[in-house]
Amino acid sequence: MPKRILSGMRPTAKLHLGNLLGALDNWKKLEGEDSYFMIADWHALTTEYASRAEIKNNVIEVVMDYFAAGLDPNRSTIFLQSLVPEHAELALLLSMITPLSWLERNPTYKDQLQEQKGKDLSTHGFLGYPVLQAADILLYKADAVPVGEDQLPHLELCREIARRFNHLYKPVFKEAEAILTKTPKVPGTDGRKMSKSYGNTIDLSDSPQEVDKKVMNMVTDPARKRREDKGHPEVCPVYFFHTIFNKANQETVAKECRSAERGCVECKREMASHLTPFLKPIHEKRKELEGKRAQVKEMLIEGSKKARKIASETLHEAKEAVGIGI
Ligand code: TRP
Ligand code: SF4
Repeated sequence: MPKRILSGMRPTAKLHLGNLLGALDNWKKLEGEDSYFMIADWHALTTEYASRAEIKNNVIEVVMDYFAAGLDPNRSTIFLQSLVPEHAELALLLSMITPLSWLERNPTYKDQLQEQKGKDLSTHGFLGYPVLQAADILLYKADAVPVGEDQLPHLELCREIARRFNHLYKPVFKEAEAILTKTPKVPGTDGRKMSKSYGNTIDLSDSPQEVDKKVMNMVTDPARKRREDKGHPEVCPVYFFHTIFNKANQETVAKECRSAERGCVECKREMASHLTPFLKPIHEKRKELEGKRAQVKEMLIEGSKKARKIASETLHEAKEAVGIGI
């Protein structure tokens, strides 16, 4: 029996290389299973409620990124959370049985309140983020959820909520496991973690010229102020990409950096000569999809219909177990 897999991303921005290496590449490997990949627009709204237009644009941008990166709508179900209203309804149901203390002690809640200082996140919806995520997962009775480490507290909460529901009413829900893939922390062009909020991303939609330019502007080891200064590849974001896209040569790159035999400009050029051809077909596929937006939208609607069949069955079971409705 194939495993039921579910995961999702928030459409807050176009996707970047960090999303590809950190998530999409793992998702692609799971497409042989019974896989569901969602665009979590309700979740985007929990933090971006003041910039809704962005979310709407980014939904289609992210679907195009999914397809361009190689997710195949014939092998997995790709859907939009808000087109499956059962997510919102189950979230409401689960909110009745979720103790406030579970949500208040959620570490990602505390972190985000700290990090997103410019936004007022003292809202009901933001506190309830993991309840909605639990609904996403439980509706499909997913066996496994591929996520990054930062999402583990949400998965644990999801299991706790499932256990509580099953215990209070009837065993409707399945406790999903996390699939943690050792995903590298991908650095951005400034050496910090690659993230849209830092403006340091290389996007899947970037043209080869843009990729080259971004690489040539990357920071390197700050200790190499002059050409003859010896370098430390382990702290250099350019080197990180050598270890992924120029594996066969990584030892040489490291050695020549440490001995100052190579300069950063040539080193970047060499890295770009591997990275750019890797991203080029993704960029081209994406360009092609940009010309077929209506079709892309249609595929998302189709995927959402498929998802809804399953979601509505589970919601029905859950409501029956509780005894709500007639
Ligand atoms: N919270 C996840 C993130 O920020 C996105 C997400 C929403 C998700 N619903 C999900 C991930 C369900 C896995 C399963 O990355
Ligand atoms: Fe980074 Fe290469 Fe410069 Fe070394 S030589 S600091 S690895 S860019």
